[in-house]
Amino acid sequence: MLVLGVETSCDETGVALYDSARGLLGHVLHSQMAMHQAYGGVVPELAARDHIRRVVPLVESLLVETGTVLADLDGIAYTQGPGLAGALLVGASVATALGFALGKPTLGVHHLEAHLLSPLLGEPKPAFPFVALLVSGGHTQLYAVAEVGDYTLLGDTLDDAAGEAFDKTATLLGLGYPGGPALAKLAETGRSGAVTLPRPMKDSGDLNMSFSGLKTAVLTLVRGQDALAAQKADIARGFEDAIVDVLVAKTLAALDRTTFSRVVVGGGVGANRALRERLSAAASRRGAEVFYPDLQFCTDNGAMIALVGALRLRRGAVDDYAFTVRPRWELADLSMPP
Ligand code: KG4
Ligand code: ZN
Repeated sequence: MLVLGVETSCDETGVALYDSARGLLGHVLHSQMAMHQAYGGVVPELAARDHIRRVVPLVESLLVETGTVLADLDGIAYTQGPGLAGALLVGASVATALGFALGKPTLGVHHLEAHLLSPLLGEPKPAFPFVALLVSGGHTQLYAVAEVGDYTLLGDTLDDAAGEAFDKTATLLGLGYPGGPALAKLAETGRSGAVTLPRPMKDSGDLNMSFSGLKTAVLTLVRGQDALAAQKADIARGFEDAIVDVLVAKTLAALDRTTFSRVVVGGGVGANRALRERLSAAASRRGAEVFYPDLQFCTDNGAMIALVGALRLRRGAVDDYAFTVRPRWELADLSMPP
């Protein structure tokens, strides 16, 4: 089954072709990062308008690149939520109109399910069941994943998501937007232990997390003073050490609770090198294995949407063409068609 995936939930327009038998055939992406940089964050109206400009030309170039014609498609999947309503509507309307015109089935996909299953795009593929650590710009959650469509929420962030904390802290250090990758790069030049920051809720006894206090601690350090470059690097390192520490501790606790032996990481912060190194080391000490998406599939992309579309359309899931978007949508509410 050959599926076109369309992702427009936030500030990346991504389209991809995934085939159930042959795997990922191709994917293309346009990032709006440069456009939003001037505003220090994503401007929803600008994001939606830019998706309108990009999505059809991106689909056209994907088809040329992969030697595919629209008639080859067996279905079209699009991100239905969660995300920015106006941005989601672009992908939903384009995908649905295309499906209607071609007489092909269309399906709205949950963006977080796509992040969570994105390691299935690579090799080796994780087997079920597993613990999923979802660390994106908007979400930091732990799930017990029994199979595709069966997600039990184990822990959540009570305030800022990990990616959001990276971005806000990067802004405090004058690193621009989105600052996660820049902060991680700066942290590599900082000294571990030179700045010690709190580990919020690390020993709370549950699997919930909180990161806004960490950002406030950094604010207190930098307020009113122009931190020197070296101090900034130490602060960045202290911040990264603290957040990674909490994420690793909570993920190990989730392994204990579920008695699973596999962890899957999804979402933009999954690209963080310190997190990858420390989580893999800690898990392997317990005989558990960690699976990450390819770096290019950690942040938003069309490939993960096409993948989930193929998994679900094959099982008979399908929308009628009266589409809707779901800016707020709980992953634990999903199920699989019987
Ligand atoms: O999953 P994603 O593309 O967007 C959402 O669906 O929310 O994640 C984007 C987030 C941003 O907050 C970005 O700063 C963060 O992932 N991020 C990183 C790294 N690469 C991206 N954070 C830390 N280290 C990185 N290397
Ligand atoms: Zn995302």
